[in-house]
Amino acid sequence: MSEIIDGKLVSAKIRSEIKQKTEVLRKEKSVRLRLATILVGENPASKIYIKNKINSCIEVGIESEHIDLPGATTENELLLIIDRLNNDPDTDGILVQLPLPLHISPDKVIEKISPSKDVDGFHPYNQGILLTSKDYESLIASKIPVPCTPFGCMKLLEYYNIDPSGKRAVIIGRSNIVGKPLALLLLLRNATVTICHSKTKDAASVIKEGDIVVCATGKKGILAGDMIKDGAVVLDVGINRGEDGKIYGDADFESTSRKASFITPVPGGVGPMTITMLLYNTLMLGLKRRSLGNV
Ligand code: GUN
Repeated sequence: MSEIIDGKLVSAKIRSEIKQKTEVLRKEKSVRLRLATILVGENPASKIYIKNKINSCIEVGIESEHIDLPGATTENELLLIIDRLNNDPDTDGILVQLPLPLHISPDKVIEKISPSKDVDGFHPYNQGILLTSKDYESLIASKIPVPCTPFGCMKLLEYYNIDPSGKRAVIIGRSNIVGKPLALLLLLRNATVTICHSKTKDAASVIKEGDIVVCATGKKGILAGDMIKDGAVVLDVGINRGEDGKIYGDADFESTSRKASFITPVPGGVGPMTITMLLYNTLMLGLKRRSLGNV
């Protein structure tokens, strides 16, 4: 049986540290940090994610400004709003919820957000620093926003004293939001990293080598216990709704948890960490931009 990696517990710990810092900022410096969120259109899942982000901001003492835009908003209108927020001295972070309607280029939108307010860590400037960093410590010291879900995965490993150094890490999924940045972060922690994707030949033999296996495919139950090595660490990034209406991960929990040494449950594993690291990035960038010292 595996040990459960409790994302709710680690999240609560980090959120309480963030809350303490925002209280000090408010009481001693009269500073209130603010996160601007933008939602374009009516995607039901995005609406839930945005609501959770706004509530989490309030919970830790970060102000939230939410901008709800109709699906017919033009790319130019959105870029002008981002411009206004880039120049607003009271806005510390800007988050545009993805996916965007098809007539808006996500690349143009991400590039428009000032790298100093890019709480998602998606801007090519910030991604470039991640790519060229020499080690994990210097990346963190550089106070560059790291994409929230992969950053949350790294924090979970850290909290459970799982050192990726020298281990084989296999990531299933190559998205810009999770797979690719997580591969770079694990590499900075000296893991030997492989990304599997839809064109990988014999993915089963690659996955079987993984001391750390991360699934980030958005496909329910794609990873089963007989696919991993004994004692592997399994991080499940998937959030999939089953036919019964319940939330499931990418891993079949019942069979993988019998073989893994550590495993993240869904819900309650990686999920809560994504918003926690968004709050962390907002605090970090706010302090940096306002020259107010360390997180
Ligand atoms: N859509 C799914 N995940 C994310 C995320 O981490 N950030 C944003 N902005 N949109 C998303």
